[in-house]
Amino acid sequence: MPHQRRIEGLIADMTLEEKIGQLGAFADALRPFAFEVNPETFARDAEQVREQIRSGRVGALFNGVGAAEGREAQRIAVEESRLGIPLLLGADVIHGMRTVFPIPLGEAASFEPDLAERTARATAKEATAAGIHWTFAPMVDIARDQRWGRVAETSGEDVYLTCEFAAARVRGFQGADLTAPDSLLTTPKHFAAYGAISAGLDYNFVDMAPQTLRDVHLPPFKAAIDAGALTLMSSFNDINGVPASANRELLTDILRGEWKFEGFVVSDYTSDLELVAHGYASDEADAAQKALSAGLDMSLQSGIYAGHVATLVEQGRLTMAEVDEAVRRVLHVKAAVGLFDDPYRCLDAEREADQSHIPVHDALARDCARRSIVLLKNDGDLLPLKKSGQRIALIGPFAQDTANLGGCWNIFGDAARMIDLETGLLAALDDPSALTIVPGSGIEEALDGGIDAAVAAARGADVVLLAVGEPHEFSGEAQSRTQIVLPAPQQALAEAVAATGTPVVVLLRNGRALALEGAVRDAQAILVTWFLGTQTGPAVADVVFGDYSPSARLPVSFPQDAGQQPYFYNHPASGRPNVPGTPRAFQTRWREVTHAALYPFGHGLSYTRFDYGVPQLSTGALGWDDTLTIRTRITNAGTCEGEEVVQLYLRDRTASRVRPVRELKRFRKITLAAGESQDVEFTLTRADVEFHGVDNRPVAEPGLFDLWVAPSSAVGEAVSFELLPR
Ligand code: NOJ
Repeated sequence: MPHQRRIEGLIADMTLEEKIGQLGAFADALRPFAFEVNPETFARDAEQVREQIRSGRVGALFNGVGAAEGREAQRIAVEESRLGIPLLLGADVIHGMRTVFPIPLGEAASFEPDLAERTARATAKEATAAGIHWTFAPMVDIARDQRWGRVAETSGEDVYLTCEFAAARVRGFQGADLTAPDSLLTTPKHFAAYGAISAGLDYNFVDMAPQTLRDVHLPPFKAAIDAGALTLMSSFNDINGVPASANRELLTDILRGEWKFEGFVVSDYTSDLELVAHGYASDEADAAQKALSAGLDMSLQSGIYAGHVATLVEQGRLTMAEVDEAVRRVLHVKAAVGLFDDPYRCLDAEREADQSHIPVHDALARDCARRSIVLLKNDGDLLPLKKSGQRIALIGPFAQDTANLGGCWNIFGDAARMIDLETGLLAALDDPSALTIVPGSGIEEALDGGIDAAVAAARGADVVLLAVGEPHEFSGEAQSRTQIVLPAPQQALAEAVAATGTPVVVLLRNGRALALEGAVRDAQAILVTWFLGTQTGPAVADVVFGDYSPSARLPVSFPQDAGQQPYFYNHPASGRPNVPGTPRAFQTRWREVTHAALYPFGHGLSYTRFDYGVPQLSTGALGWDDTLTIRTRITNAGTCEGEEVVQLYLRDRTASRVRPVRELKRFRKITLAAGESQDVEFTLTRADVEFHGVDNRPVAEPGLFDLWVAPSSAVGEAVSFELLPR
């Protein structure tokens, strides 16, 4: 193992300061770019960072871009620092680089992990061309509370769907060979349970059963690691009183002990220092000691390792062995991505110029965007619209908006290539004069005369496309909302437009599930368009005019009312379940609204319809070590080709801990021509019914299970099978 020898040789040679240097990542002041994504980013200026590199006091830089400047930083590290250890250059490259793909939540709605793998691959090509080795993605947190601003960055509320997307994105970003010039090292984040912050309030506490942590929040990290991820980012939150960034159980016992993870863990931005504010550490030194000894290898931006680890070692509060172990992990990752063999990988200015726009990525962005659009309702088959012979009014603050196409993590996107709704729709129409465009309202404020103009346009049209929703800054870090509804001026616009009687198609822009109200909720048709990225306009036009039949499904439940949060389909069974169609007193219910989702997880329509046969099981009695095969006939019973997401859910009828009312276990997207049928086959084994028992160990319990093969989490007829004892 030449790398191992080299790493051990380096560790033997390194001064304590040089070791600590490898454990620090700092904002890239040499090629500063992302100014607003973190507080007080550029505390150190370019000259200070150059000096840090020269003296071996930094291991990684982040959120800079540019091959030539990156090459110069690397040259200083390799040629001017004593040991010549290369820098790792990281960045938040989340859902696209120059080409912006849909927000992760939108892409998850495609229910096509292989699509996410392809967009991640494309993103990796663009990012590595621009001087970036390492992305702080994918985010694999589970989002069960839609008030949280970071729902947009997740794959939604489901564990299995999130695991599938986590693994696909890791495969896509990294590619088959970590040392390839277009391989982008990943950082699944935020370890762990960040999505479970109380009340959906960012940075808030997490108080949860250890079994829920294991059943719900940890599996996506395991899936990402199994797919090859070599770094993780610790989260800001505490879990049951222990901050994740100093959580030995998570960072060492589970990650290294149980999962045999060989990479390194980086803190979130200053999350190690924040142990002090949590009241978990008395001062910076105490925070550094607690974080490092718990297994947090690299400190992102706070500087507390640089400031205190040497003294901690001198005082005997940290051992040299603990420091060496963290350094070993960091160097191991640097070696694994090929930096020791080629420190200048990803730092080629010619390649950057050549690949600043890769035209095939536009086509991929358009395809991904249209595959992410969810058709919630389509009364009277109002959609698709006609490309001629129909007068269309495009109304709403997002009609001509270019500022809110990219979503909350659009740091490096090419603004000049963003295509808005107006441009996309006009390009698709046979007769562009059929389209009238009126903003009607601002995003959060009314426009003088806006509603009158919108009403006039609606009256003169056969159909209204109403482009309403959230601006991108309602999503992302520290953007929790109490009311997940449309801003009042937009709701007023929707009411006035609907009152004209002209049929309305809502084009919803959103980074979370919203509580739809009034005229928006009652519109004849609703398309969920998230933040779709570079190709927003063309993708929406493809769906609106029927060049593409929608195929996406909700990765988050749309509630009846904002006050129901946290609201998710796979909740534990209540002792007084809500049974639709029975008297509601003394049931699990809300006074004001029905309990059922307005649009459940997994829901989505297309321009055709699908019939489901009864699932045929290979056996009703599954042997302990056997495989159950489930075959279901799906028929396209409509008049055009379409894609269906066939979903398999399970429920454990009786168990030693209360189990979810339903859980997604498999899904497959299939394409069927009008009238065509296909038998869709899934297999399950005992592993698919495992959960963590009272002793917090994985267990599968013999007994009866209900199984649905259905078009959403809320419909279908159950069939059952029994898992036989060992
Ligand atoms: C804080 C965010 O929580 C994290 O997701 C991001 O990667 C870092 N800032 C670095 O920008």
